[in-house]
Amino acid sequence: MEMESLRIGEILRTGQPDESVKIQGWVRTKRELKDFAFMEVNDGSSMGNLQVILGKELPNYVEILKKINTGASVAVAGVLVPSRGVGQRIELKANTVTVYGESNPETYPLQKKRHSFEFLRTIGHLRSRTNTIGAVMRVRNACATAIHTFFQERGFLWVHTPIITASDCEGAGELFTVTNLDLNKIAQKETKEIDYSQDFFGRHAYLTVSGQLEAEVMALALEKVYTFGPTFRAENSNTSRHLAEFWMVEPEMAFCDLDGDQDLAEEFLKYIFKYVLEHCPEDMEFFNQRIDNSVLATADNIINNQFERISYTKAIALLEKADRQFEFPVEWGIDLQSEHERYLAEELFKKPLIVTNYPVGIKAFYMRLNEDGKTVAAMDVLAPKIGEIIGGSQREERLEVLERRIKELGIPAEELWWYLDLRRYGTVPHAGFGLGFERLVQFMTGMGNIRDVIPFPRTPLSAEF
Ligand code: 4AD
Ligand code: MG
Repeated sequence: MEMESLRIGEILRTGQPDESVKIQGWVRTKRELKDFAFMEVNDGSSMGNLQVILGKELPNYVEILKKINTGASVAVAGVLVPSRGVGQRIELKANTVTVYGESNPETYPLQKKRHSFEFLRTIGHLRSRTNTIGAVMRVRNACATAIHTFFQERGFLWVHTPIITASDCEGAGELFTVTNLDLNKIAQKETKEIDYSQDFFGRHAYLTVSGQLEAEVMALALEKVYTFGPTFRAENSNTSRHLAEFWMVEPEMAFCDLDGDQDLAEEFLKYIFKYVLEHCPEDMEFFNQRIDNSVLATADNIINNQFERISYTKAIALLEKADRQFEFPVEWGIDLQSEHERYLAEELFKKPLIVTNYPVGIKAFYMRLNEDGKTVAAMDVLAPKIGEIIGGSQREERLEVLERRIKELGIPAEELWWYLDLRRYGTVPHAGFGLGFERLVQFMTGMGNIRDVIPFPRTPLSAEF
């Protein structure tokens, strides 16, 4: 009978001497001595590799040694023995070694040295075999699990909102068109305008920039819902915090105002940090040592301190008093730029802060107008190093006010008939927010570039792999 193989992470944690085990994975390094050899094998289940001892008495010793170069895939069956080396508790003495696939050490792009993240992006099909990207993917997975657990424990339903949509939720015009029109034919014609009524959906359709509008539909029936899915933005910003395809988490709650929204956002972030520290201690330790030595202190700070909460108007006053020149001049009415957000979160408060009640002129049509007529019930959670990590608001639930806002902004109201219907039939105060999932993973790990926290980044001029 074939022995079932174990994951290396489990063996490193709980394996005992004399246990017979089988493992499978990829060779990280090989070291040949006179009478025996060592190889380190990793299967992605942990940061640590399992050291395997290959004795000369192995059948085909010489032949196997030739094949097990860095990058080769192997299965090893053997017995666990206490390790005599430092840094590991246990190692595997091989009885049989099977090589699934060889690797050419001359051309294999991952060598046993540190590679730059820029270089690793050019080998997106192999980079997950490195310590750092492997750790990122495990932490990313833990973040996603934490998010689902958090909401499920609190009675939120996970709803699946469409990826193809006809509405521009954020009104920022950063939409990718979805079409099956024959573009070659169109190119040959001298038409000035494309007739989308002839297109697949009989109208102009896009990849969604946010599932919020549809989440509102669901919240006004099911009370508490959340989305967790890909969103798309054709913004031409080549920064370390923007992707053209990113994942967003959007809770939406009926019978909730801006205070409740802020409370949820804060509890939510605290929960995820706690969960990841508990479930990925080794990876988090690695990030703290190798990537950013403030990662663990930041996590601790998030979990144990209250977030600061200030109004936009107060934020502007603080920025005006700042002892420095900003590239973008500060005055009431401006949209906060990354440098402003980071100054507030990183330098002034040294912790996440929630800024509320932004000017009506810089925010989306659906945000609830405040009594003053100048601001809306918006909130952004700003994090040190990242800037905006969450954006949310209480939604405008009053039909007349919403209709007026839509008109002022020149949005075609007839396309939003269903959204307005929610205000005609059983409207309630409601609120929600959107968390940029990759920004969260960046914040959690200290990774400097958002392209390195998603398996296959999509950015301007880049969609390989
Ligand atoms: O602030 P945003 O645009 O808000 C919305 O889309 C609302 N509909 C959310 C809601 O209330 N349900 O985006 C939400 C978050 C931002 O705070 C940011 O973290 C992230 O999404 N985000 C991006 N992440 C990566 N790349 C981009 N291009 C991003 N644009 C926004
Ligand atoms: Mg925003």
